[in-house]
Amino acid sequence: MIRTPQALLPWLFLLVALGGGLLWSASEMAGPGHAIVSGTAEVGGPFALVDQNGKPRRESDFRGLYRLVYFGYTNCPDVCPTTLAAIAQAFGKIGARKTKLVPLFISIDPERDSPKVLKAYLSAFGPEFVGLTGSTSAVNSVAREYRVYFARHPLASGGYAVDHSSLLYLMAPDGSFVTFYEDQSLEPDALAADLRKRIRG
Ligand code: NI
Repeated sequence: MIRTPQALLPWLFLLVALGGGLLWSASEMAGPGHAIVSGTAEVGGPFALVDQNGKPRRESDFRGLYRLVYFGYTNCPDVCPTTLAAIAQAFGKIGARKTKLVPLFISIDPERDSPKVLKAYLSAFGPEFVGLTGSTSAVNSVAREYRVYFARHPLASGGYAVDHSSLLYLMAPDGSFVTFYEDQSLEPDALAADLRKRIRG
């Protein structure tokens, strides 16, 4: 039995997802961590979640806005905070376009990530973030729509961590998929440059 290196999991899951009708153009690489995907991916869809203020939020609430969608959890030791910090920095570099973009942080650990916990956590990154959590079934449903893999594993110290695929999705104002960024190599300047290019000023 070959063990899959954990870092490859997001890619494997994405490749499986892409197998279902996405035209992949490897020649269109736009620099480190950036892949431009052409075609229509079946990524995204409706959701009914709750934001960090306890307010019910649906996918349709964000119609008319670009969204940067990231799945993670507040207890994540490294990748999530690094990614959110990169998003916050990039957000500060896109000028007036930021009025057309909302970063969404969707918890895949709703048992611990209550709205209150999300609110305290996201306050460290910036007021632009909308944190979303909800029932286990609502979170499972939105994760499926975004082809996000996650699984708990127990920690020796007690409690648990949540392995999760870690792609950052850019969705269009109509909710359709635009592109994704691999968070492990996310550079705020490169992300900002790509957002400036894709979002009409
Ligand atoms: Ni994480």
